[in-house]
Amino acid sequence: MPAIEAITEYLKGFSSSGEEQISIFGDEGKATTVEKHVTADFSIPLFINEFWTARQRQSSSIHEISYRACFKPQLPRFFIELLTDPGDVVYDPFAGRGTTPVEAALLGRRVISNDINPLSRILAEPRLSIPALEQISSRLSKIPLQGQVSRDFDLSMFYHPQTEKELLSLREYLINKSKSGTEDEVDRWIRMVATNRLTGHSKGFFSVYTMPPNQAVSAERQIKINSKLNQKPGYREVHSIILKKSKQLLRNLSGAQVNNLCRASADAVFLEKESSQTEEIPSESVALTVTSPPFLDVVQYSGDNWLRAWFNDINMKEIEQNITMASNLQEWSAVMNKVFEELYRVTMPGGWVAFEVGEVKGGRVNLDEAVIPLGKAAGFNCAGVIINKQEFTKTSNIWGVKNNKSGTNSNRIVLFNKEFA
Ligand SMILES: C[S@@+](CC[C@H](N)C(=O)[O-])C[C@H]1O[C@@H](n2cnc3c(N)ncnc32)[C@H](O)[C@@H]1O
Repeated sequence: MPAIEAITEYLKGFSSSGEEQISIFGDEGKATTVEKHVTADFSIPLFINEFWTARQRQSSSIHEISYRACFKPQLPRFFIELLTDPGDVVYDPFAGRGTTPVEAALLGRRVISNDINPLSRILAEPRLSIPALEQISSRLSKIPLQGQVSRDFDLSMFYHPQTEKELLSLREYLINKSKSGTEDEVDRWIRMVATNRLTGHSKGFFSVYTMPPNQAVSAERQIKINSKLNQKPGYREVHSIILKKSKQLLRNLSGAQVNNLCRASADAVFLEKESSQTEEIPSESVALTVTSPPFLDVVQYSGDNWLRAWFNDINMKEIEQNITMASNLQEWSAVMNKVFEELYRVTMPGGWVAFEVGEVKGGRVNLDEAVIPLGKAAGFNCAGVIINKQEFTKTSNIWGVKNNKSGTNSNRIVLFNKEFA
């Protein structure tokens, strides 16, 4: 495991000219800009470059599942490749759609994934045990399309009556499988894909034109959208959409990657806990944590996910109570203080935490300044803040990248290290 000094030197020297960088990253980079970030309490280096967004480093198609505020797979990949070896344990306490665990598994690492939102596990776990397309197709053919299922509420503003019937039958099938304990990896895959296809803006989704599946609008709002666009839901075949999306997710996976995912799934741990209370994770077992916490009250995970929660029989009220929705920095810091104490416990000596802090409230709230003292108080050393600046181009508008007006996307990651005893 590299020492903090080696990583600092490495980040400082990051450019297209160094042979080592080229061999590791295959990148045409610019030299890193290093600035000092000085406050009354500490002085920390800021490393600024385009570290991981170069076009040639495409991510795997298996990541193409939408989730609010997800990060791009290249972000965890950068830290996983730099700071761990195959077989090491990589962890994300706020895993969301599972970008960190899926990328870590692709790279032959072992994984622990946690998120208080049960949708996280539903979206992440099946992508470690990949069924063959024939298995998916054969299973779909056995799931009834026209069950006598009564609906709990009106969904006609989203779905054609026949699509709605198919969807209700699939939901009923999955709920029964789960309740009877007979759900297997093929069912879980189908559940994951269907959850991702519930609503969206193209014919690849079950619904009429609407917002993406991670931002489901209310029934009332959809009625207004339909009337404004003068549209009514057309028929969408549920099974064939699931199969098509499955093909897309698997389209560029190599055999070696499928094997790595499968190996990781054998002892992968998926938790649905408050991230400061993860006693299931053994002390000093994690080589690297890569994570992005909930940022103040920017994202309404529960409201945005109501339809996904309904499909998966998840109680939204419970989720609402548990998800951290701190409205100010003081509240947020109090929650993260406990998270850092837990991260210190689970991190092995010499291990790392890469903690992404977004640009919150239009850049007016500087979360790195709040996070650095929290990590240090828990016992970590801070190696610096890594700022990935990506010049925005049309072609880079892919999964997980958010445009902003200035034409750049940036991620700010505070990097911590636990000293050897
Ligand atoms: C910014 S998102 C993480 C996105 C993730 N990096 C990805 O690529 O999908 C933050 C996540 O934290 C979860 N979360 C919020 N409060 C939590 C808590 N107290 N404990 C564990 N997870 C929590 C939310 O459900 C959400 O999935």
